[in-house]
Amino acid sequence: METNSQYAIILEDVWKVYRVGKTSYPALQGLTLRVERGEMLSVMGPSGSGKSTLLHIAGTLDRPTSGRVIIEGIDVSGLSDAELSEVRNKHIGFVFQSFNLINRLSAVENVALPLAVRGVSYEERVEAALNALKLVGLDGAAGKRPTELSGGEQQRVAIARALVGNPRILLADEPTGNLDSKNTEIIVSLLREINERLGTTVVIVTHNPEVAEKCDRLVRLRDGRVESEVVLHA
Ligand SMILES: Nc1ncnc2c1ncn2[C@@H]1O[C@H](COP(=O)(O)OP(=O)(O)OP(=O)(O)O)[C@@H](O)[C@H]1O
Ligand SMILES: [Mg+2]
Repeated sequence: METNSQYAIILEDVWKVYRVGKTSYPALQGLTLRVERGEMLSVMGPSGSGKSTLLHIAGTLDRPTSGRVIIEGIDVSGLSDAELSEVRNKHIGFVFQSFNLINRLSAVENVALPLAVRGVSYEERVEAALNALKLVGLDGAAGKRPTELSGGEQQRVAIARALVGNPRILLADEPTGNLDSKNTEIIVSLLREINERLGTTVVIVTHNPEVAEKCDRLVRLRDGRVESEVVLHA
């Protein structure tokens, strides 16, 4: 079901209980969160409070144990795995703390990779990848391998890869966790620019208050629920 919605992401009373043997780990415990289209949101909270679990579920990488998940107006709760990955491919880009680039591929090949999975032609892939690299200011480094780039540059390549399919939503799990303060600033400014220029909804999980400060809104999690929220830029 597709409905018009001002929200990019709606999570309603979401529970996620991991079961390992006979033990249950309730990672999300009735979490409700709405993210507006075009919003830039940060999520903070202690280790184990459910931040990564929240991103996995909002990104349709994982299903909740119960509760409703609506992405870009699509109620994904009843979708098959194939339909779920279609929603994911079309709407969502991911950025991780550890960049997750493939070392034997060049920057442009890394960025083009998600399009290969989608069956886009070689020429179109390269063109789209070069455009995405331009967006992050790294078109000059297209032929370099990840090991020939700084950490900040590697993360910019990873952001280009996340953006190459024009997703409406960008989900970033501690994207500056491995970077120094200068590169942290560069990455956050870049994400802000993408948010403002392309209208991409951005959700950033972070432990860094300076990163959170640059976002429109900060949501704090505790024990798998929203503990508090602050609007920073209306
Ligand atoms: N695959 C899993 N199996 C079992 N328990 C899990 C699994 N993934 C997460 N958990 C548990 O769920 C809870 C929330 O984990 P999550 O990774 O979402 O926390 P987090 O807020 O991202 O923490 P951090 O800041 O350390 O990254 C933790 O108690 C964790 O141990
Ligand atoms: Mg985490």
